[in-house]
Parts: sequence; structure tokens; C-alpha cells
Amino acid sequence: MPEATGNPEAARFGVGIPASDEVFYVKGSNHLDWGMQDRLSRIFNPKSGKTVMLAFDHGYIMGPTSGMERMDLNVRPLIPYADVLMCTRGALRSVIPPNSNRPISLRVTAGSTVLAGDDLFQECIGVNIEDAVRLNASAMAVQACVGGKYEYATLKNLAEVIDAGNRYGIPTLGVTAVGRELTRDARYLAMASRVVAELGAHVIKTYYCEEGFEQVTAACPVPIVIAGGKRIPELDALTMCYNAIDQGASGVDMGRNIFQADDPVAMLQAVRAVVHDGEKPAQALEMYETLKNQS
Ligand code: R5P
Repeated sequence: MPEATGNPEAARFGVGIPASDEVFYVKGSNHLDWGMQDRLSRIFNPKSGKTVMLAFDHGYIMGPTSGMERMDLNVRPLIPYADVLMCTRGALRSVIPPNSNRPISLRVTAGSTVLAGDDLFQECIGVNIEDAVRLNASAMAVQACVGGKYEYATLKNLAEVIDAGNRYGIPTLGVTAVGRELTRDARYLAMASRVVAELGAHVIKTYYCEEGFEQVTAACPVPIVIAGGKRIPELDALTMCYNAIDQGASGVDMGRNIFQADDPVAMLQAVRAVVHDGEKPAQALEMYETLKNQS
């Protein structure tokens, strides 16, 4: 029974102790609402402040991509080592066990495939906000092609998804798509990332560049994660991760360099060591080889 007289024995009011007020650790996110911060803290590890997202949304534009021919067989062994799963709703519902309990970065744009050639980036919003909520998405991923033929349409998609996500507390991951006519240098990547961030994206996915990447991250007011791109030798991929983190990236959102590696589970663990523990590329490669030989 509740006490009719209130709380006569309550005494621990901590009079004189200032109310605790913590600064939220994700770049540029201190003023966001509780649901947004909760989801971002599922994406970015509170200890390291970084994230390793496993991207396997390639099928929505490429079909059965090498290394991801059988998502049920290829993705499930990787799940325990990924901080976030980035995928389509079709992949999520058909192959990811809901009790995996991994945050989801849900691909919500659609409309073209690699068969469309130069029209690859002609996309619309392919998943409505109710479905993203139903799937308990921790972020919604939207492709934006700054400077490309579909700049207006893709930035409109981005703005609409950000508005919808803001209504429900779901962050938007802005993916800077770079058409063949554009150069992936620091000048372009800084501009694309900044535009997407200024439109309100909460996390930016872009590419690493050898020269001036620290300017790309410095000019972007929210966290940047890098895509891996085409498969390269393991040491090169680990070096790219190391350099990106060293130059201000908050993590990776990587696909082919993990699931196309000779041993994807070992590669994902090596990438984790670089991103979360600051392991040097040569040591991370050693770790990869050891894990590979054990499996
Ligand atoms: C491409 O379809 C997706 O946006 C991928 O999620 C992205 O390119 C990252 O994957 P990867 O590391 O293979 O480039």
C-alpha cells in the first residue's frame, strides 16, 4: 500500500551535491533527444567511442555478391563480432535471427541496380518510417550523391528520411555515393560529407582518401565511418582502417574487405582490434593469420 503521508523516512536528498550532467560522447550529438542518443550509443561503443559496422546491403544493387551468395551461411558467423549490421529489410527479415540483438542500420533507399549504369543513383525512399520502427532500426541509411546527376533527388530522399527519423528518434546514416564522374579526393569528400551533415544526417559514411582525410573528418560536425570499397589485400585494408581512425574517423562500415577475405570471421576480429584497440596494422595482420590458422 502506498503511504498516505508521503515519504516520511526519505532522507537521502544529497543536499549540496550538484545534479550530475554528462556530456554525450558521440560527436555533434550532445543536443539530441534521449531516443536518438540511446540508439547512437548502441552504434558507437561507449568505451572506445568507435564502431565496426558490417555492411552487407550490396545485394540490393548487385544481387548475389561474391562472398555473400548465401546470406544465411555467410553473415551469421560474423554477427557476434559486428557492432552493427547494415542491411536491407529483406535480408534482415529473412536471414538475421531477431534474438541476435545487434543494432541495425537499415538501408532505406532503393530503385536502381548496377545494371542501370550511370543511373545507378536514381533512387527513392524504399522503406517507410513505420517499417523502420517495426524493425527496431537503430539508424536508417540513405544514399546521397552530391555533385552527381541525381543530386537533387537523393538529397531530397535524405532530407525526408531525416525528418521522419527525427519524429521517432531514429538517426540517419548519410552515405556519400560517388559517381564515376567524380573524384574521391579530400576536397570532394569533405564537401559531400559536410553537405550531408548540414542537411541533418547524424552519421556520415564516406570513403577514405590518402591525402587530406583529416580535413574531411575535421570539417564534418558528426561522426564519419568509412566504407571499405573493393577487396584489397588484408594488410592494405587494415592499414586503411588504422589511418582512417588515426585521422579522425569514428569507425568503419565495411563489407567486401570482410566477407570476401579468405577468413571473414578472422578479418572482422582484426578490424575490431584496429578500430577499438588502436592495434597497428602489422599486429592486426598477425592476429588475422593466427585466427585463420586456428579455424
Ligand atoms: C553498397 O552497396 C553499400 O552501400 C555498402 O554498404 C558499402 O559500399 C560498404 O561496403 P564495402 O565496404 O564493400 O564498400
